Amino acid sequence: MSSGHCMTGKKIILGVTGGIAAYKAVEVASRLRKAGAEVHVIMTRAAQEFVTELTFREITGNPVNTGMWGKVAHWNVEHIALAQMADLVLVAPATANLIAKLSIGMADDMLTTTILATRAPVFLAPAMNSNMFSNPVTQKNLETLRAQGMEIIPPASGHLACGVDGVGRLPEPVDIVARVEEYFCQGQSLKGRKILVTAGGTIAPIDPVRFIGNRSSGKMGYAVAEEAARRGAEVVLVLGVSALPDLGNARTIRVETTEEMRQAVLQEFSDSDAVIKAAAVADYRVKQVAGQKIKKSDDDWSIDLVRNPDILYELGQKKEHQVLVGFAAETQNLMEYAKKKLAKKNLDFIVANDVTMPGAGFQGETNIARLVFRDGRAEEHPMMKKSELACVILDHLEGIFRERCARVE
Ligand code: CTP
Repeated sequence: MSSGHCMTGKKIILGVTGGIAAYKAVEVASRLRKAGAEVHVIMTRAAQEFVTELTFREITGNPVNTGMWGKVAHWNVEHIALAQMADLVLVAPATANLIAKLSIGMADDMLTTTILATRAPVFLAPAMNSNMFSNPVTQKNLETLRAQGMEIIPPASGHLACGVDGVGRLPEPVDIVARVEEYFCQGQSLKGRKILVTAGGTIAPIDPVRFIGNRSSGKMGYAVAEEAARRGAEVVLVLGVSALPDLGNARTIRVETTEEMRQAVLQEFSDSDAVIKAAAVADYRVKQVAGQKIKKSDDDWSIDLVRNPDILYELGQKKEHQVLVGFAAETQNLMEYAKKKLAKKNLDFIVANDVTMPGAGFQGETNIARLVFRDGRAEEHPMMKKSELACVILDHLEGIFRERCARVE
């Protein structure tokens, strides 16, 4: 894994609470800064009994926050401003008291208020007497925080300041910083790659007010695009009919018909490193789209449909360096159809799902998928959130990129 650059310019709030290990937070701050991060320290009142504000100010080059009501640093500090600008909040050491307060959502000082208000990931490095740490109350509180998505950096064992041996020591600053760095580097595993994702359904207009459409919500492809952007890729999302908003950190191109999707995809294809085609593409279009609203008559009505081009097939023909990932939404013979599509469309792998299964398919938040590869291997996954399946898909994509690199070297 690359090091150093992942943390450049990252805004990290370092919370320091009042334990004997607070002195180690000085080294944590120093290492974070050396790795390129912008460090903003918030000290609790108790922490100031162990280390001085001045030390952190010198180490970080930034004003230190020592309280909600105390003297305000030269820039206008507000807990909300800090909470909003943070890329990550790290509390080291985190006392049992802080952990307890966070677990019930208390916000009675600058640090707890900021953590409650932030949407950034929160990492806690607990450090305390080993009995306090193993106390069921503390363990329950940690479990609560973990369940909310906070990352708990496990304490080390060894000789504690209170004279006993046990679990509860703050891990070495170098290890704490390595964990933070790992987090930021993870986010960069697709940096330098351009990933083209399609999502949602395309429609076949009949007249100015009617169309033929499908049940796709766009959620699966959207989750893939979001995760690829989070991993640092340049993402272009070609989004068919979907209620989802434009992606914040990717280019979203909205289309309605299959031909519009085809044009957008072909335009972006040549310099893409991978295409993930989660869209449910309308295979047919109306032969003659009426310019005016068709009025009803007493007769039955039939509409002539003509075949649309298969976009993914076309990409499979054009494919050079691009990795192609397709989807197969089936209601029967899942593996057979998926394998056929994989071969016919010249894909690297295909994500097959039986849309009739509860927990799989179009509208929901979850999916049940099998990944089928060129060599015939199939990998079955249990029901999982679409965001989790997006991670599985992108992990495989990264695996293919890595394999190719290894072959070139
Ligand atoms: N696809 C496409 N262009 C089409 C139809 C499908 O690019 N005109 C892509 C989809 O985005 C998906 C894959 O091909 O990644 C398989 O789509 P699916 O609808 O499951 O299969 P079809 O090839 O349309 O076959 P069928 O409708 O007969 O199942």
